[in-house]
Amino acid sequence: MNRPLRIWHPFTQDALDPPPVRVVRAEGVYLYTEDGRRLIDAISSWWVNLHGHCHPAIISAIANQAERIDHVLLAGFSHEPVEELCRRLRAVLPEGLTHIFFSDNGSTAVEVALKMAVQYWRNRGRPKKSSIIALEHAYHGDTVGALSVGADSVFSEPFSSFRFRVHRVHSAYCHRCPVGKARSSCHIDCADALANLLADKHEEIAAVIVEPLLQGAGGMIVHPVEFLERVRKLAGAHDVLFIADEVLTGFGRTGRMFACEHAKVIPDIVCLSKGLTGGALPMGATVCTEEIHEAFVSRDRSRTFFHGHSYTGNPLAAAAGVASLGIFSREPVFDRIEGIARIHRERLARLADHPAVGEVRSIGAVAAIELRASDAGYLSRLKPKLYEFFLDAGILLRPLGNILYILPPYVISSENLHSIYDRICDALDLCDMWSRPLL
Ligand SMILES: Cc1ncc(COP(=O)(O)O)c(C=O)c1O
Repeated sequence: MNRPLRIWHPFTQDALDPPPVRVVRAEGVYLYTEDGRRLIDAISSWWVNLHGHCHPAIISAIANQAERIDHVLLAGFSHEPVEELCRRLRAVLPEGLTHIFFSDNGSTAVEVALKMAVQYWRNRGRPKKSSIIALEHAYHGDTVGALSVGADSVFSEPFSSFRFRVHRVHSAYCHRCPVGKARSSCHIDCADALANLLADKHEEIAAVIVEPLLQGAGGMIVHPVEFLERVRKLAGAHDVLFIADEVLTGFGRTGRMFACEHAKVIPDIVCLSKGLTGGALPMGATVCTEEIHEAFVSRDRSRTFFHGHSYTGNPLAAAAGVASLGIFSREPVFDRIEGIARIHRERLARLADHPAVGEVRSIGAVAAIELRASDAGYLSRLKPKLYEFFLDAGILLRPLGNILYILPPYVISSENLHSIYDRICDALDLCDMWSRPLL
């Protein structure tokens, strides 16, 4: 007899984690479960959802598009939805970015960016410029290239032998300053390591990749704007490409359409995904400058960018992206984000002195509370306790180890957001007990 085919769930330990929650419907900020519960999706289903689940404009755009073209390859072909998405993105992306290469998700958007950077220098006759600089605490995805530029962690440890080597420099993690300074008096000294490395090795470096202003999976670490400004300046001054991975930060999460806008910097390459379709369908995109694209245009076919995924530029995903950007122009999306940001600031300020709290930080619609824990890190025993506590309270929060964060769809009501903070207050009082090792 055939054995059943079971789903192997991501980031899930079957021996320890509770069985998956079966969701039967999603609407606005809510997930409705098979057993009759209604959960607030306080992490936007892994940071993808912007305007609430099943927004009617996105759903009808997908349905209408499905009647015309389901999918067609993008090599040698094109179609209206993907072209319209380009026009809409043109209106929101910084000037100077002229070409967009579509893929399937955040990791592939990063893979494309890395390969594009390396081949750019090769096509320009400088093949030695082939290594990458990445930050401590970085996360850029789970495929092997993206994992290589991500920080050393429990995620990457089993694959250390086949991740490619990168130059690793400090991130601006002010709460745990890598150079022992305090933000009030420092001069972004953490970027000196990058400055020295670039001065020494720029001839062999293709690009520096950063998550602008907010390192997500590494712990929702918020950087000072000055750090981003300095990294961008240093890269430009040393003829090294600057890649901004805006997979998480894009589409309003940090209070601007793209995080780079806070520092008024224009990257050479930008990676997009997650919110690109409003969170309804998978899509990735890597956007670059004219100068980069130009290096690939040649009568010599070997200079072609030989990269492509089967579902590149999928029309349904593109239609969802167009609809999502339409919502930005019709609905008060940035007012909603500012409303969320204000509540984050107010409520975090009140939590900051709780004995269980190490640091609170926020940017735009994202808030994080770093909890004191004897076993800080992704495998902290606080994580499963907190996850179950919040699920029991009707809230989907999925801490990164001892770092609790809120990253809600922009349509969350202030009542719901306050109720999440009320439950967080309850949880903080239990943290001391939860973090004690079992005897
Ligand atoms: C900054 C950043 N880059 C890349 C990725 C990878 O995206 P995906 O999970 O769609 O492959 C993520 C995912 O969380 C991310 O936060």
